[in-house]
Amino acid sequence: MYLAIESSFDESGIAVCDAQGRSVFALLSSQIELHAPYGGCVPELAARLHLSQLPQLWRQIPAEMLKELRAIGVTAGPGLPGCLLAGVNFARGAAQALGLPVYGLNHLSGHLFSAFMPAAAEPGSATEPVYPHLALLVSGGHTELYLVRSLTDIELLGQTLDDAVGELLDKVSAMMGLGYPGGARLERLAREYPGIDAAGRYGGSLRLPVPMRDSGDLNFSYSGLKTAVVKRVRGQEGAAAAPEEYPELAAALFSVVLDSLWIKVEQALKEHDCALLSVSGGVAINGFLRQRFAGLCDRRGIRLALPAPQHCLDNAEMLAFLLKLYVDAGLPPAGFDSQSNWNPGLAQGVYASGPAGLDQDSLHALAASRPGAHS
Ligand code: KG4
Ligand code: ZN
Repeated sequence: MYLAIESSFDESGIAVCDAQGRSVFALLSSQIELHAPYGGCVPELAARLHLSQLPQLWRQIPAEMLKELRAIGVTAGPGLPGCLLAGVNFARGAAQALGLPVYGLNHLSGHLFSAFMPAAAEPGSATEPVYPHLALLVSGGHTELYLVRSLTDIELLGQTLDDAVGELLDKVSAMMGLGYPGGARLERLAREYPGIDAAGRYGGSLRLPVPMRDSGDLNFSYSGLKTAVVKRVRGQEGAAAAPEEYPELAAALFSVVLDSLWIKVEQALKEHDCALLSVSGGVAINGFLRQRFAGLCDRRGIRLALPAPQHCLDNAEMLAFLLKLYVDAGLPPAGFDSQSNWNPGLAQGVYASGPAGLDQDSLHALAASRPGAHS
């Protein structure tokens, strides 16, 4: 069995999977309410909360399960430095006490391979990673397209130049007074509009721009779309949209967001010979996206791999599964220095957005110098 610890941002998680990668134990403790009085995540508070939450979660692991463990994994980045440090030190202590190897894991790789977790087996969905494949990561902090040649060879093909898709949805939701996080609330709102089909195709007369349609590269951008929606909601050009019109606006928004994502996938498929696309991250929960991409992949003759909805948002289960894949592949445990800690898996691109290293000195320096990359 394989145990992984996640503490990169505002959720502490511990999960164990069995030799087949099936999740057999999972706890996730969210800090969202504890940060709410401050209007957002406070990094120092988050790190301290991990320090108190992780031991509480650990105590709930059945003793007989601990005896079966082969390795421990921990998110080594990207994330808030203090939070990563709390998790890494906890994992190291646990590994030492149990005499187990400890692997530093990349949170983004965790998302990418979550699409292949056994629970993901939905009708028509793939369960085995095939290589090379395309991977679209869509979350609150990331909108990226990768070429995955192997577990450890992952190339960044394109990424958002500004807002991530989840960030766009969260901002629009806040602006419409629906609150945070916004993706699921906006999806419910869009479903109230009768002119949107199950694949998120909007047939009405509202016109929103499809971002980066003709950019000629594989990058994304959502700040222009956000501005277009803001203008309509606030009435900066013409009359302000009435709240009764919000469902239609949300429907039109999902429609163009999905158009924009698929345009880049299609272009990447022309440039790279891939028989499978994975879509992961919190936005991959979206029902319109799942339906739209299932149809498009079918028509394009490629397979689609999606994580089960419960594995789309941040969780430790996806990291336990990644750890199992690493051990199965015979990869050695990564040391926690500035080089190897971004190994194994370690495509330049995946690591580009995170802190450069995870030795304690560099983490402290990072903590002092920048807020860190949230995944
Ligand atoms: O993977 P995740 O936890 O990412 C980050 O930690 O950044 O994803 C969170 C994002 C949020 O922006 C949230 O609005 C979005 O996932 N999300 C959704 C849905 N549920 C959550 N977006 C679209 N449709 C949903 N149903
Ligand atoms: Zn994440």
